[in-house]
Amino acid sequence: GKGEYRHFMLKEIYEQPAVIGDTLHTFLNPLGQRVRLPELPVDPGGVSRVTLTACGTAFYAGMVARYWLEQEARQPAEVEIASEWRYRAPPLADDGLVTAISQSGETADTLGALRFARERGAATLGVVNVPESTIAREAGGVMQTLAGPEIGVASTKAFTTQLTVLACQAIAMGRARGTISPEREEALTNALLEVPARAAEVLNHDGRIQRIAEWVAAARDVLYLGRGTMYPLALEGALKLKEISYIHAEGYAGGEMKHGPIALIDEGVPVIVCAPSTSPVFDKMAGNVQETIARGGKVVLFSDREGLERMGEGATACVELPKVDPFVAPLLYAIPVQLLAYHAAVAKGTDVDQPRNLAKAVTVE
Ligand code: F6R
Repeated sequence: GKGEYRHFMLKEIYEQPAVIGDTLHTFLNPLGQRVRLPELPVDPGGVSRVTLTACGTAFYAGMVARYWLEQEARQPAEVEIASEWRYRAPPLADDGLVTAISQSGETADTLGALRFARERGAATLGVVNVPESTIAREAGGVMQTLAGPEIGVASTKAFTTQLTVLACQAIAMGRARGTISPEREEALTNALLEVPARAAEVLNHDGRIQRIAEWVAAARDVLYLGRGTMYPLALEGALKLKEISYIHAEGYAGGEMKHGPIALIDEGVPVIVCAPSTSPVFDKMAGNVQETIARGGKVVLFSDREGLERMGEGATACVELPKVDPFVAPLLYAIPVQLLAYHAAVAKGTDVDQPRNLAKAVTVE
């Protein structure tokens, strides 16, 4: 049941410190500074190209993983919407690995993409939450997320546990490819092991995020901005808001603002920005924020103390998150965007756990 929580979605948001920890401990013991992966269908050091394929929120987890694989493992990687990729039927790389990401393990297009890859002889991996699901059964290897049952239609803890698994995979591939030193691996795994505690700190800002959400709920359109791994977080924030509050929202890469969307900026369009100060593209993002504020945009900033000091001037609202290694920032910045969408939906009086027109598992195309 929902216990003390008003909705399953809120309960599932609050479960994240625990389920991220559970998932992490399947690959890392609390002391071990080395990631241990289950048997993979390929040699992790010899993959020519990783193709991550999924739908919706799981696709955004794949987008984050592409940054990790490229940056930490120097692993060529691409991320593909399952429904497009399977019908585009592109040529597959020899020695490639196709990773299908799915909470339910039953999403028709993701399963179709997995079968397309298998039929062409590619090695496949499933990142799934339901171990007896079709994708888990058909994939060449499985890395399970230990989110537990997710009842709310909007994906929350499934997303952050997918990120947890994919982060471990990127570390293991980096080690196998010789791009991650033992010291670097220790730093990354320590940062991951701290995530449950940091995530619990982020949840302490719930009340503040609720007040911001009550203001956002009055808007007709909302923009989300991010760069680097915060770009998929911006997309995820916008998806979450539109699916449960029915407010129109768009996520953009910060650098794309001047190529069109900045024309939308006026006092009625809240602009939600995810920007950890530790990001290598923080200064670029700060520039986009200043341009937005200069045009009358009402900016909500999610950043750490240093980031808020460096770019908070002129912002309408700020939420201070813990300062963390940029590698783990996506796991933490997921939480405020989830809470913002949740409270905006509650303020609008929508059916948070069962939004109109949506199903928990999309088993038809
Ligand atoms: C959004 C959401 C959906 C799912 C998508 C894939 O909150 O829940 O976008 O992420 O339908 O579902 P799975 O992961 O079950 O394949």
